[in-house]
Amino acid sequence: MKHSTTLTILSAIATLLIAAGCNCGMTPQDKLTVNDKKINKIIAQMTLEEKVEMLHSKTNMSSEGVPRLGIQDIKYTDGPFGIREENGDGFRSLGWTLDSATYFPTGSALAATWSREMAYKNGWAMGKEGRLRGKDIILGPAINIQRLPVGGRTYEYLSEDPVLAARLSVEYTKGSQDAGTAVCLKHYALNNQETNRGSVDVIADERTMREIYLKPFEAAVKEAGAMCIMPAYNKVNGYYCSENAHLNNEILRDEWGFKGMTVSDWGGTHSTMGAALGGLCVQMTGDNYFGQALIDSVRNGALDEAVVDAKVREILRLRFAIEPVPEDVANTIMTSQPETQKIAYEIAQKSIVLLKNETGNLPIAKDVKKIAVIGQNAVLTTAAGGIGAGVKTLYEISPLEGIQARAAEAGVEVVYAPGYKNYQMRMWGRGPAVANPLVANSTDEPADPTLLAEAVALAKEADMVIFFGGTNKSIETEGSDRKNIDLPNGQNEVIKALYEANPNVATVLISGGPTDLRFLEPYSPAIVQGWWNGLEGGTALAEVLFGDIAPSGKLPFTFPNKLEDSPAYALGVFPGKSVGEDLFTLRYRLDATGYTPEQIQEYIANLPKPVSEYKEGIFVGYRWFETKEVPVMYAFGHGLSYVDFEYGALKCKKSKKNIKVSFTVKNLGDMEADEVTQLYVKRIGSAVERPLKELEAFDRVTLKGGETKEVTLEFPISELAHWDNETNEWVLEHGKIEILVGSSSDDIRQTIATEI
Ligand code: BGC
Repeated sequence: MKHSTTLTILSAIATLLIAAGCNCGMTPQDKLTVNDKKINKIIAQMTLEEKVEMLHSKTNMSSEGVPRLGIQDIKYTDGPFGIREENGDGFRSLGWTLDSATYFPTGSALAATWSREMAYKNGWAMGKEGRLRGKDIILGPAINIQRLPVGGRTYEYLSEDPVLAARLSVEYTKGSQDAGTAVCLKHYALNNQETNRGSVDVIADERTMREIYLKPFEAAVKEAGAMCIMPAYNKVNGYYCSENAHLNNEILRDEWGFKGMTVSDWGGTHSTMGAALGGLCVQMTGDNYFGQALIDSVRNGALDEAVVDAKVREILRLRFAIEPVPEDVANTIMTSQPETQKIAYEIAQKSIVLLKNETGNLPIAKDVKKIAVIGQNAVLTTAAGGIGAGVKTLYEISPLEGIQARAAEAGVEVVYAPGYKNYQMRMWGRGPAVANPLVANSTDEPADPTLLAEAVALAKEADMVIFFGGTNKSIETEGSDRKNIDLPNGQNEVIKALYEANPNVATVLISGGPTDLRFLEPYSPAIVQGWWNGLEGGTALAEVLFGDIAPSGKLPFTFPNKLEDSPAYALGVFPGKSVGEDLFTLRYRLDATGYTPEQIQEYIANLPKPVSEYKEGIFVGYRWFETKEVPVMYAFGHGLSYVDFEYGALKCKKSKKNIKVSFTVKNLGDMEADEVTQLYVKRIGSAVERPLKELEAFDRVTLKGGETKEVTLEFPISELAHWDNETNEWVLEHGKIEILVGSSSDDIRQTIATEI
């Protein structure tokens, strides 16, 4: 039987089953179509004006339903690491009192748990809080690949690895949608830099897109039934994402079977006909393209009304899948609740990465009676700040507060000094420089001698020093990338002086992305990556430092030795030429300074046209460093514990579809600890250019002191296929493979060879 005939019969059967009210055997996306009959009847009753009213913003965070037919508006909220406070146009706070939400660990922290369970719970908790606030769609999870160490949104994104990002995206999506709030996967696609994000044309070949950048989106759409997707600001291979028919129609809808709706990133719609035919459903925000202009396009015959109907249908599918929260039920209790706060806490506990513990400085020894906590990042709160979606958190326990509370229980004295100035951005880079002894006006401002001397004095009289370094929300922020990954404002000088005063030092890095640790490393016998870790981040960190729990996070991205080693820098394809200000913020600034919409349009049209060439192809992150044999500071997947783990020999079982690998893991220590086991595949004698090895499966296992458990890691053989740029399809190359299992990408403990 011909392929197309089979498909026709299958789809006829599916339609019959749906009509009979049966969801059996349907894909998660097909489930969205169960109301199509009803929806088509509704569409038939709607005027063109009513339809188009649904296709653009009503307010900054809503789009219209069909009031005449009793169909409610769709209410959106940012995402991804907390439900955003209630705001009016231009993101101005409305000053509500019940809209304080839970601040969850940001993307890279969640990913450092390498825990599907945590990702599910995170999504579920977001979905729950979304419901309390009457929201239908969370603008998240943010699942772009961390291509650049300097990326402004690395902290929001999950990983440099598509398999890790995909597995966690699937669970977050399931969790949120199970709790009754749809996700909106963002930013589709290849939004891997903030530099020129509103205009940059990303040039990437199909294999690179399929194997690396699209994977997390594909998995969350196909496996978890994500109901909404947000085309990104940038262009991909010549077309803005909001009008990119290849991404939105050919791949998303035709290949992956997406049945939900698309919503442009805020200010990311650029045309009427292009976006209408290129797969966009809702213009966010404004109606200059998907308002009267769309009506006119239909009326003058340029656009078939069926295109508008299809968009309305996709929106209504989500509308019927997500129950609207009645007005008198929403916002009656505080958004953040103990149940969801506990989830944020659990994620934080599992995310903290022990990068180094050379002389066993951690956990804090029992005979330490006085700790000097040095560094402003110990008191930094990270729920809000910078540009982009922050969280008005109900509370936030800073690292210092966490340490103080835990130290009080242990009868340990804690003294604190800021140690260095912290850079604070001035909105749009304007306004007078701040005259505050703790604030730097640029990241390059060197160490402050007074703050340094005060810190050294405290270090000398303490039994132990905990130095808090890293970045802050003015440095890692939406709308711009970092200039470099250096530790700012003389932090290196401070750590050196502290070490010389008292070598019993542990460093905690509070940042969302990697930093250059070459200078700091010799002066830090112990180093912890502490992330931007949610409202209980300080509590979880103190538990790790004091040894109540063992650290168990693993890096979701590589810490390169130096920025220039990373692929886009090594190949000289980033940063390229900047057009100056980010397009999104530029619009707001021009608007605020009195430009008319037409003048803004013209201004933007005349800006240079930047290009970002993904020359490194599939060699992103560890795929690059390992294949090119470039040494790194800390490898992808790295993370130590307070105990050691022993891995037993591998047993490999193959079925037609899957490979299952079993082995034992033993906790050699005497405290309970989690280990994240990682499985990589290396191709032997492949005819296709491939990375040295690639992650295929992972799992987290909890082991009591001395305990042994059997772990089984499984992955579909189809995951080993590569995208063939010539034939434009997935191809499974048969042949020998080596399966590598270990504690990190650079700490492989057991291997086994097999064939596929
Ligand atoms: C961001 C999105 C966000 C939207 C609405 C945009 O600037 O790129 O991630 O969801 O604003 O706040």
